[in-house]
Parts: sequence; structure tokens; C-alpha cells
Amino acid sequence: MDRSEIRKWLTTDDPTELATLWRMADEARRRCVGDAVYLRGLVEFSNQCDRKCTYCGVRAGADVPRYRMTGQAIVDCARRAAASDCGTVVLQSGEDPDLTAEWLADIIHRIKSETGQAVTLSVGERSDDELALWRQAGADRYLLRFETSDPVLYQRVHPPRPQESRNRFDVLASLRRMDYEVGSGVMVGLPGQTFDTLANDLAMFAELDLDMIGVGPYVEHPATPMGADREAFAAPAGHQVPADQETALKVVALTRLVCPDTNIPATTALATLDFAAGYEAALGRGANVIMVNMTPTDFRRLYEIYPAKACMRETADFHVKLKRRITSVGRTVGAGRGDSPRRETRIAARSEA
Ligand code: 5AD
Repeated sequence: MDRSEIRKWLTTDDPTELATLWRMADEARRRCVGDAVYLRGLVEFSNQCDRKCTYCGVRAGADVPRYRMTGQAIVDCARRAAASDCGTVVLQSGEDPDLTAEWLADIIHRIKSETGQAVTLSVGERSDDELALWRQAGADRYLLRFETSDPVLYQRVHPPRPQESRNRFDVLASLRRMDYEVGSGVMVGLPGQTFDTLANDLAMFAELDLDMIGVGPYVEHPATPMGADREAFAAPAGHQVPADQETALKVVALTRLVCPDTNIPATTALATLDFAAGYEAALGRGANVIMVNMTPTDFRRLYEIYPAKACMRETADFHVKLKRRITSVGRTVGAGRGDSPRRETRIAARSEA
């Protein structure tokens, strides 16, 4: 699918055409990754951050109490995740300047030896030395959304550190070199994002040959520069991508079509727009993974990258309900790690060459 075709799908609101898009995405999902839905246990272990992303509620300087969980508390969450059928634990934090590479390496090592889960990191732009140490400690995967392929918009929403030349694409290239499973993605409807930009983003997913692709709607946080003055950031009317459920679902479906054998989560942001049926909607349009929040509630409250996150309304037995919801739409709960089928294909191609 080329950019102009992607763009055409992004701008259609014809119900018959959309039904075709949903069907194509669901068929590609079934053919390429099957019916299993893999659960990942998400641990938001630190909300410390020294970046100033204009959309994010835990940006440096935001008025939120800061926390970093202890190693023991993080390992306990991983154990709970394992007991809830999460074959993967995702360790996520802000770009925490006081997090030491050795500290996190030790936690990765402990989780790998105690639960045997796949470990995914989502801790921002870090140095090659740190990434290599964590890979050595047993980390399997790394998530770093590039957020937008438009370099001007990127600079506006994600101010670089002084003298910094390394960007997120450089980090993604390092991760690939180190043989991580590489995940990325974008927000849909970010102020300033046009349909052309978003079509480029989707083409970029294929170019980067990603193992995981997370997309969700942008959710406005009033206590951020972008939330306080949306108009100042927005693209001209007619060009600005809306941050609504239908558009985000189109991006999920198109992602499945451009990257058929990658892992695609039904994201929390999508569930935030539709708490009752957001996960099911995404599962029926290409998604095959769900992240279950395992962060202790006292900390979860403080990890407010955007307001009213769906996980704030989830009860302690949410994973039980979620499994019922998965089977009620004709899918199965995946057993094991749920590695990227894409990665297996890439490795097979490498050994043939
Ligand atoms: N709305 C939606 N998604 C957001 N993220 C951060 N802030 C917001 C927001 N206001 C997403 C970013 C980031 C991921 C961890 O959460 O895409 O990469």
C-alpha cells in the first residue's frame, strides 16, 4: 500500500469502505498472527522525567509528586503479572535521569531468573552503553515511539536537550543492531499532525520493519503546554487529524495491513475513549496484544501522562474480566511470551542469505 492509498483510507468516512477496511485488517491479523491475544503486564515504575514533551502530563516541571519504585516492588509486580498469565512484563518509566543502568540491569536479571518472562523496556532515549548492558542482562524488547515522522513537528512537541544530536530514530537503529525486538508507534491526532504526516508515519512503520507498533489517540492533558493552547499547535482546519476513536482505529487497521506480521496492542488510550468496548474494537481491527496495568494503584495515580486513563477505572480482578472479554469476541488468551512473528521471519531470511 503506498502513501496515497494510505491517505485515502485515512480520510474516508464512507461506512461501506470502512467495513471493507476493518474486514481486510481482521483477515490479515488472523492469517499472519492468529487468534491468540497476548497479555503484557505493564509496570510504570518511575514517573521521574527530565524531558519536556509538550503533550505529556509527567513532563519535567509538571506539578506531580514524583516516585520511583524499589527493585523489590518491581519484581513483585512482575510475579503478579506472571500469575495473571502475562508472559511478558513491560517496565516503563519517564526519562529518569537518576535511574542507573546497573540498578535496572539487576532488576531485569532477577525477573528473568525468577519468572522467566520476556522483559520489555520502555524507558526513553538512553545511551548505547545502557541499552547494551540491559540487553546483556536479559532484556528482550524495547519500546520507543517515534511519535511523528515530521521533524519540524517532532522538535516542537519534543524539545531536544542542549547539544543533543541523537534522535529517536538513532536509538531505534541501535536497538535493532543489538537484536532487541523493536517497538515504536505514534499518537493519532496530535495537534499539528496532518493526514500527509500520518500517512508518512504509517509508511515509516514498514520501513523500520518493526516488531511491535503501538498507536493510540492523543488525549489532551490540560496542565501541559499543548493542552493549555491547542490552537497554537493545531494544523489548519481540514488538515489536522482528529484525535477520535474512529481515526485511531483506522490507524490500527492500516498498521496491520502495512505490517501484517507485527505485534499490535489494543492500547490504553483507545480504551480510555471507550472504556466498555475499546479493546474489543481494536481486537476486531488488527490488534493482537493487550497491556494489563500491574502498577500498584498509589503509583498508578501519579503516572498521569494524560487524564482519566482507562487503567484508573480497572478493579483488582481486571485481568480476569479481560480474559472473558477476549474469549467473548472469539479469540484466545495467548500462552507464553508472544514473541514477534516478524522477528522470526527476519532471522530466517538472514540465515538464508
Ligand atoms: N495522549 C496520548 N498518548 C500519550 N502519550 C504520552 N502522552 C500522551 C497523551 N497526552 C504516549 C506517547 C508515549 C507513550 C508512553 O504514551 O506516545 O510514547
